[in-house]
Order: sequence, then structure tokens, then C-alpha cells
Amino acid sequence: MNELRDFYKGKKVIITGHTGFKGAWLSLLLLELGAKVIGYALDPKSDKELFVTARLDQLVNDIRGDVRDLDYLESKLVFHQPEIIFHLAAQPLVIESYIKPRETWESNVMGTVNLLEVLKNLDSIKSIVIITTDKVYKNTENQLGYSENDPLGGHDPYSSSKAAVELAVESWRDSFFINNGRNVGIATARAGNVIGGGDWAENRLIPDYFRAYLANKVFELRNPDSVRPWQHVLDVSYGYALLAKKLYLEPVKFSESYNFANSSSVEYNTRFIIEYLNKKTNVLNYEVRSSYENLKETKTLRLLSEKALNTLGWKNQLPIEDSLDLTFQLYNESSLDSHRIILISQIREYLGRIE
Ligand SMILES: NC(=O)c1ccc[n+]([C@@H]2O[C@H](COP(=O)([O-])OP(=O)(O)OC[C@H]3O[C@@H](n4cnc5c(N)ncnc54)[C@H](O)[C@@H]3O)[C@@H](O)[C@H]2O)c1
Repeated sequence: MNELRDFYKGKKVIITGHTGFKGAWLSLLLLELGAKVIGYALDPKSDKELFVTARLDQLVNDIRGDVRDLDYLESKLVFHQPEIIFHLAAQPLVIESYIKPRETWESNVMGTVNLLEVLKNLDSIKSIVIITTDKVYKNTENQLGYSENDPLGGHDPYSSSKAAVELAVESWRDSFFINNGRNVGIATARAGNVIGGGDWAENRLIPDYFRAYLANKVFELRNPDSVRPWQHVLDVSYGYALLAKKLYLEPVKFSESYNFANSSSVEYNTRFIIEYLNKKTNVLNYEVRSSYENLKETKTLRLLSEKALNTLGWKNQLPIEDSLDLTFQLYNESSLDSHRIILISQIREYLGRIE
């Protein structure tokens, strides 16, 4: 971990999507590692967002902009001359993508293409991590788990947009970034089922649960038997940080795609998650609801992350129970003034596990 601190100390890093759930956590982790963080994103969706409650605008260079706006994006990147970029800005929700498929593709695909176009001509850049998702794989109901060489696909507009991002990155990598006069490390990171405090997205299990809990409503659980490789946002953020460092130091070797998934041999379904949280919140009941059955969701999603383990030395540090405990701690804290303190203490405790 000291190596990671030495590496990030004073490095200029841009995070797109810093006003969102994962971007806020990643911003704080990189700040803790000593990086200078610049964020580029739309306004936070509400005052409940972690970015607002942890007052991240005081800690990062906070730029509000749209990745669909090529000229504005270019002007900001050229001005700041970052060495490392993490691209998280996206419309990240499957259900929203059925409602707004075109906008989803515009932000996710053309937003990424805009970024690649700017980075193509930016001399300062050395390392690029593009965040996609575990949903980029063609759904073959593969029971063994998807690995990086499996075919891309995506039934819904969100998943297919992220698969398209994978293709764009591969193309720009081979055409402009690697072995084309200069070597700039670029990789995609495929993670999913990320949990942690401060996520308020609609139609996600944990935010939906805490919305119901805080409003004293009975939680309606859809797909209670769905199995997912849940993982804490800190494990994923640490994986992204590690990948960016490897890309920076050895761009040719590491410029590929990586799954980041919980490799625990024990699997957990959504019912387990809710019953565990119920014990913490002292809520007794939940109702099973099936109104979303028409939207195709894989029953069991398994993602293999041997590659991240073997090539990056990354694996999850937090067991599911610890991940849920940390998550509960933040949602249960009614004093918003405490959010930044809790976040930083969770990050320090996490880094202590690795050190
Ligand atoms: N949360 C998960 O479980 C999960 C799983 C797999 C992949 N991802 C990916 O991780 C990334 C972050 O997801 P999240 O859960 O934090 O989502 P989020 O909705 O909390 O944050 C999205 C961020 O992207 C920004 N953004 C959206 N459209 C933009 C645009 N056109 N221009 C500029 N900024 C824009 C938002 O302002 C926000 O900062 C996304 O790329 C998402 O697809 C998330």
C-alpha cells in the first residue's frame, strides 16, 4: 500500500462522474492516497448524494460539465493536463435505459468516444481506466462465470451501450494509444453489484432498501433468489487505483480488460442481503414483488476475476458481512455532518487491511 501512496502522491488525476456514488468514493480514496483530484460531471442528482453530504466540492477541483460536450470537455482536459483519468460518467441504470435508450447511448458511448478523442491528443496523459460493467457479456446463462474473453453482448440499452464502449476502447487503443508512436496505458474495468453507503440510485437493491427503511415503509423485494457477486465500493475503487498504476508503469503489458468481482466461494442472493440488513435495522418484514419480471434479469450472475488476481494482485478484502456493516453505518447516520468523517475512517480502515 505504501507503494500505492508513493505512486499517487501529487499525481494529477481526473475522475469523470465524481458527483455520483462510485465517483465520490474513488475521489476520496485517491485524495487519501495523496493525489490531486479533478472531477468532471453533471450536477449531483440530489442533496442526498454523498458528493454533497461529504462536501466533496471542498476537496476536489469540481468541474460541472457534460461528456457529450466535446469542446467543453477538451478545454478542461487541455487546461488541467492530467496524467491519469478514470472515466465513470455514464447513465448507469438498466431500467432508465429502457425509458431513455438514446440518451443512454449518447452519454455512455459518444461520451466515451469524445473522451478518447481528447485523450488521443493530450501529451500529459499516461494512464486511462474506462469503467464499464459486468453486464457487457452476452447473456448465455453461463453458470461457470464470465471471463474476459467471453463474447460481448447486452440485451438492454444500458448493457449494450457498455459493450459498445468496450469495442470503442479496443479500437482507439490499437489505433492510437498503444504501439502508435507513443504508449498510453488504457484498460476497461468490468465490475458490478457494487454496494456501499451513499448510493441513492433508483431500482437498486441497497438504495431501495434504505429508502423504505428511512420512510418506515415495508420493503418490496423483487427477485429474491437472484444471486450476485456483491462487493464493496472500496474493493472496487482500490482495484481501479491499482490498475491505473500498472497501466502508467507498464502500458503495453496491462492495456487490456479486467473483471473485478467478488471471488468468494460462497454465493449470496438478494434475500440474504435483506435479511442481514433487517437484523441491523430491527425491521422484521419485507414483501416479495414481481412487477419487473418482464425486464430480463439474469438469475445468477457469476464473474471470474482470476485475471485481476494473477496480473494485478487484486482481490476483495471485505467479506459480505463487513461490506453490509459499513454500508449500514453510513445510511444509518442521520447527521449529515458526520458523513465525511465516516467515509474517511472507513477508507483508512480499509487501507489498513491492505498495508
Ligand atoms: N453502481 C454499480 O453497481 C455499478 C455497476 C457496474 C458499473 N457501474 C458503472 O460505474 C460508473 C458509476 O456508476 P454510479 O453507480 O456511481 O452511478 P451514479 O449515477 O451515481 O453516477 C454517475 C455519474 O456520472 C455523471 N454523468 C452521467 N451522465 C453524464 C454526462 N452526460 N456527462 C457528464 N457526467 C455524467 C453523473 O453526474 C454522476 O457523477 C458508471 O459508468 C456505471 O455504469 C456501476
